[in-house]
Amino acid sequence: MNILERLDLNSINAGSWSGGTPIQTNDGKLIESINPTTGELIGSVKNTTTEEYEQILTAAQEAFLEWRQIPAPVRGDAIRRVGAALRENKDALGSLVSLEMGKIKAEGDGEVQEMIDMADLAVGQSRMLYGMTTHSERPMHRMYEQWHPLGLVGIISAFNFPVAVWSWNAFIATICGNVSIWKPSPKTPLCGVAVQKICNQALKDQGLPDIFHLINDESNILSQKLVDDRRIDLLSFTGSCEVGKKVGKNVAARMGKYLLELGGNNAIIVDESANFDITVPGIVFGSVGTAGQRCTTTRRVLVHESRFTELKEKLVHAYQQIPIGDPLDQKTLMGPLIDEKSVQNVEAAVNKVRESGGEILCGGERVGSKGHFISPIIATAENEWDIVQDETFGPLLYLIPCKSLDDAIAKQNDVKQGLSSAIFTNNLQNAERFLSNLGSDCGIANVNIGTSGAEIGGAFGGEKETGGGREAGSDSWKAYMRRQTNTINWSSELPLAQGVNFAV
Ligand code: UN1
Repeated sequence: MNILERLDLNSINAGSWSGGTPIQTNDGKLIESINPTTGELIGSVKNTTTEEYEQILTAAQEAFLEWRQIPAPVRGDAIRRVGAALRENKDALGSLVSLEMGKIKAEGDGEVQEMIDMADLAVGQSRMLYGMTTHSERPMHRMYEQWHPLGLVGIISAFNFPVAVWSWNAFIATICGNVSIWKPSPKTPLCGVAVQKICNQALKDQGLPDIFHLINDESNILSQKLVDDRRIDLLSFTGSCEVGKKVGKNVAARMGKYLLELGGNNAIIVDESANFDITVPGIVFGSVGTAGQRCTTTRRVLVHESRFTELKEKLVHAYQQIPIGDPLDQKTLMGPLIDEKSVQNVEAAVNKVRESGGEILCGGERVGSKGHFISPIIATAENEWDIVQDETFGPLLYLIPCKSLDDAIAKQNDVKQGLSSAIFTNNLQNAERFLSNLGSDCGIANVNIGTSGAEIGGAFGGEKETGGGREAGSDSWKAYMRRQTNTINWSSELPLAQGVNFAV
């Protein structure tokens, strides 16, 4: 059986779903899923029409009225079933991620593992939606706070994590009592349909309302509708800073809630004491993994000048050993970029680096005669160059010398984005300085670990133009609920707060 057959996908698939039921008239245009490795068509998904969008929104609203009445631990049990189904389908779904998105099979499987981990976390969290109590200033009064579901959560996800980012949002939203509507990237529509099918198959016969809804839209008209739709209580958006800024503005204009997970410009600081046995592989995984198409990808290395030459030689050597090719081949460590436009974008960035005075130390050549392959690039650069300040979504790494740790931290922070950061050091004081409030200004700061590959237990997200949102673990669940403060008077008097006397 091929990958599509294993996941019960057809060559043409419905793109609009309420739970396990396709809501589709036949007039949806087709979104073609193109294999980035070969440029060939894998399959198609029907574009959601405006009428289908309306049907789905109405169905989601109705489902919410039921779902919110189901106790949170029972909602958790639904996610437990979903997690079990993902475990069963890990190999097939991981292969589809690899086929459609182009990341290597180990990373495709890793992405599904991230969903499974997220399901486990959500199951536990469903019994821990804690509210605090506090002491009232009035006698015989009790004060506490509790958390209620929001309603509908819209999830717009990107091509680079075509399944996991949905699960970060949807699983937590679900145990919090919400119903979600997902609009995946039009570059990876089959992953969306496959996930929709797997997760709803697991819930079949449980008599639950439809908690997962799916729309597909290539033109972005429906994304815009979702952003502007007052029925969407929380809009979670993953994508570029440029688009995210507009999303935030539009959702805020209707006083909706939003969660933004936007671009990064992540740096690794390498100090005089760094152990290169872990520094070099840490940088290579961070910069070449997923062909440089993670929001957490390492884009800049800020290395102490005394170790610049040694690190440069080691990195160039490592880069030249990287097997590039079919992401489903076990030996491959780097697959293609998602499309031709992405390759051109990286090439344009390389030209800008040259024009700015940088040296291309290796990479930048197209690989093979088909698909969207480019060899990974290391360039010398200066932090303040415009091209370095922007996120180029591909395998382009800047090597920047620094005079001191303070110089490196200043450079690390001197970009618009604030997602992930790291230091490789054996010096305790340097590590602690980097982690202190005098150090990294990012949402993620690691020591002796690269910038990418975060575990789901922590809150994921970043500061500044990265958007400020936090998803996945820790107390991120609070973003999917509304807080209510309750004060209960169990006395027979009516004392007012602040000692106000209002005798009538
Ligand atoms: C993303 O690139 O949008 O930390 C998410 C990581 C992954 C998630 C990346 N766990 O690299």
